[in-house]
Amino acid sequence: MSEPTTWNPTSWREYVAAQSPLWPDSDHLSRVENELATKPPLVFAGEARRLTQQLGKAAHGEAFLLQAGDCAESFDDSSADAIRDKLKVILQMAVALTYASGVPVVKVGRIAGQFAKPRSDRFEERDGVRLDAFRGHIVNNEAFNEDARRPNPDRLLDAYHQSVATLNLLRAFTTGGFAALTRVHAWNQEFVTNSPEGKRYEVLADDIDRALAFMRACGVNLDEDHELSSVDFYTSHEALILPYEQALTRQDSLTGDWYDCSAHMLWIGDRTRQVDGAHVEFLRGVANPIGLKVGPSTSVEDLTILHSLLNPDNVPGRLTLIARMGRDKVTDLLPPLVQAMKSEGAEVLWTCDPMHGNTFKASGGQKTRRFDDVLTEVAQFFAVHQSLDTWPSGLHIELTGGNVTECLGGGDQLDESDLDTNYTSICDPRLNASQSLDMAFHVSEFLQRAVTTRGARSL
Ligand code: PEP
Ligand code: CO
Repeated sequence: MSEPTTWNPTSWREYVAAQSPLWPDSDHLSRVENELATKPPLVFAGEARRLTQQLGKAAHGEAFLLQAGDCAESFDDSSADAIRDKLKVILQMAVALTYASGVPVVKVGRIAGQFAKPRSDRFEERDGVRLDAFRGHIVNNEAFNEDARRPNPDRLLDAYHQSVATLNLLRAFTTGGFAALTRVHAWNQEFVTNSPEGKRYEVLADDIDRALAFMRACGVNLDEDHELSSVDFYTSHEALILPYEQALTRQDSLTGDWYDCSAHMLWIGDRTRQVDGAHVEFLRGVANPIGLKVGPSTSVEDLTILHSLLNPDNVPGRLTLIARMGRDKVTDLLPPLVQAMKSEGAEVLWTCDPMHGNTFKASGGQKTRRFDDVLTEVAQFFAVHQSLDTWPSGLHIELTGGNVTECLGGGDQLDESDLDTNYTSICDPRLNASQSLDMAFHVSEFLQRAVTTRGARSL
């Protein structure tokens, strides 16, 4: 491989960008890029730096990353209620994880910009008609007709505006009292309350209430305590559509570094992580924390090169490796990669995406996942880290706050005949709110064990 050349926000254009839509009108695209480049940033460099610091703790075993949200956000579903419910379930999961393990949870949503999808097949064929694949609402629409599937650059602006509105609401929720620990009961949604995991959550919330009452009695003013009355909540998405990412990239006046201000954290997908590809080139030059999906075809050699390209200064928190191997492969494929990074002294986070390696088609044709497969992959992931004496730094989940019926199993024991009841995902199947909470309780037990092991080893 040749040495990397000088980076600038446009240098990715000299490289091949896999998974790029074929925009029918390049002038139209340029006009949109120019317009986006004049827009205010969505996030600030200082916020991204703070996230890097917090992730740095998760790299060292002092925190745990929970990254969660939709597979693909939809332009047709941006209601305040939907955003609030997603936030609620993420806050609930984080509380369950922290309460059991005593480890702070860094909360990052797949939200406020998660609009682009890589596709295994460039085209989709139905009844002999072949059209461009649906690539997420930032590119085209899922309806199966030629007009809907034609990539339209105006969608980049729509994605920007929806991200602005979503982030605005998230900022209000997370700092305006809604996320205060004193409201821990209010995050449990009605339809979750009567499920076993909802009830387990109520017990935990009662415990927290008692602890808070005790603190109040001791004279602590809970309303004025920043840590208790608000939460840090960060945004992330796959940086797939590079013209969009470039247009929102700005130079920080404080440090002179470049930040992609479309989200706090950006990740590179499993299909766009080519060491000589445009996505790696673009993201190596922005100073945000970066994620990298690590699927079954990742070689030790590629991972080593990718680490040296994306994290040349070996900064803890800069690079999160998101393993998505599949339940049957993780035990074989993950250890050599973790071991290689460990031997290099690479300061990375290893997190587990147990969703993308466990998708299959149900007999009715819907894409689905089994709760038990997802859980098994997480369990194997923790076991690998236990055996290599490395820290399992986080969990990466596709979920939604609603009562959807997209994944099988879990507390409600959903089966294939339930899938059509409330299947609303425009891309991959997501855990619903009670399945997500169920997952968090299981993972909190794994995390508790990891904490005990870490404690015993440092004696
Ligand atoms: C995703 O996270 O939605 C995704 C497409 O993942 P991957 O790149 O790992 O397939
Ligand atoms: Co997905």
